[in-house]
Amino acid sequence: MNAAAAPRGRVLVVDDERHQRDILETILQSEGYETAAARNGRHALQIAREQPFDVVLTDLKMPDLDGIALLQELGRSQPGACVVLMTAHGTIDSAVEAMRKGAFDYLTKPLEKDVLLVVLSRALERTRLVRENRMLQEQLRDRFRIENIVGAHGSMQDVFRIVHKVAASNSTVLIYGESGTGKELVAKALHHQSERRDRPFYAVNVAALPESILEAELFGHEKGAFTGAESRKIGLFEQASGSTLFLDEVGDLKRDLQVKLLRALQEREIMRVGGTERVKIDVRIVAATNRDLEADVRAGRFREDLFYRLNVIPLLLPPLRERRTDIALLVEHFMRKYADPKRPRDVSEKALEILSGYDWPGNVRQLESVIERALLLSEGETIVPADLPAAVRAGLTSARGPLGLDIPDSGIDLEGVERTLILKALEKTEGNVSRAARLLGLSRRTLQYRLEKIQES
Ligand SMILES: Nc1ncnc2c1ncn2[C@@H]1O[C@H](COP(=O)(O)OP(=O)(O)OP(=O)(O)O)[C@@H](O)[C@H]1O
Ligand SMILES: [Mg+2]
Repeated sequence: MNAAAAPRGRVLVVDDERHQRDILETILQSEGYETAAARNGRHALQIAREQPFDVVLTDLKMPDLDGIALLQELGRSQPGACVVLMTAHGTIDSAVEAMRKGAFDYLTKPLEKDVLLVVLSRALERTRLVRENRMLQEQLRDRFRIENIVGAHGSMQDVFRIVHKVAASNSTVLIYGESGTGKELVAKALHHQSERRDRPFYAVNVAALPESILEAELFGHEKGAFTGAESRKIGLFEQASGSTLFLDEVGDLKRDLQVKLLRALQEREIMRVGGTERVKIDVRIVAATNRDLEADVRAGRFREDLFYRLNVIPLLLPPLRERRTDIALLVEHFMRKYADPKRPRDVSEKALEILSGYDWPGNVRQLESVIERALLLSEGETIVPADLPAAVRAGLTSARGPLGLDIPDSGIDLEGVERTLILKALEKTEGNVSRAARLLGLSRRTLQYRLEKIQES
């Protein structure tokens, strides 16, 4: 081995013929690889347990544990390492089979040195990419830790609880929420908390593509399926196999595709456009909509059977105006996200009051951009009302709360209003105190306390 330079990579050579092992090790070492050799599959596993390898170059036919079995065992113990198989001419079928099981490539014996070296360097490159990707995924997982989704309000705590509970399962989740409430953020959190997190998260916005393009995007197509289909295309359902597929704005799916999606969900297999072969898929579906899908079902715009397939675990993201207590927390969160860490900034009490009173039709996304903008525009250390957009400031000066209430000149009976609102909330939740408390933005205990007061008076 070239001792001066760092090795190009670590290769484990596995062959039951001693002569073959020796030749390979000599060639590889002269090219700057670090090598180790194993005389059979079991021996290879033992060595691989002790030290990591970038590439495993293994004979296919070996007594005891053969190349394919080794490949599968390694997949479990050494994720990321590439396996290259060596095979005699007559066994190419099993080599192809091995590729399907995840081998990187195969070489036919007798080996040609040039081919061997090219394949090895490509395998190394792939290993490097896979490992890099894994690292990035881990960083991403941190970003989408549920702790980074801000929400102390009871309704958000409910969301987090459900996310924790169902992330590990393969059940379909349907996220409801107005625009900007964090639907995509929650979908990513579900993915990053699941066993599927090592694979990338796939997303498609159903409303953004014309029907025919969307169909090919989701299901893929065979070569020549339609004019312009010059080669086979693997669709998202296949690409996302082993991972999560996020179907955004699923309520906007056209009729024909609703049928196809239903079939894919029911049968867990798809057919490419223009194809005849059924392809098994293993995809966790998370869908989102800002529409009232049940109303769409009643109106005949959305298939009822598809609705039930999607609505297995419904998750409701409440609009920001219904969890105003979270506004201050979100402001703090976005200040940290956008402010220069070397220049600490804060928000004046008056500005926070305005932010907390505003209705936020664009929800968290709108609040985020208001904070980002205020940080850029404000002159001083503190964000003041003048740094906020006029529409947000006007929201408070009109003195109309979320219910559009006004105080008549004759004045009001505040306790009476409170009593009415509490009773209305209880009516709406059919007497469920916890849910009524949530509707009113109160803790259960506070509501209980006020209820006792009402009963006493
Ligand atoms: N609870 C939250 N905590 C922190 N950031 C949030 C939260 N909710 C949303 N955001 C941020 O707000 C922005 C919008 O969120 P997201 O894209 O997930 O919303 P959405 O519901 O998918 O919106 P749309 O329906 O418009 O696609 C993102 O930048 C996201 O990071
Ligand atoms: Mg979205």
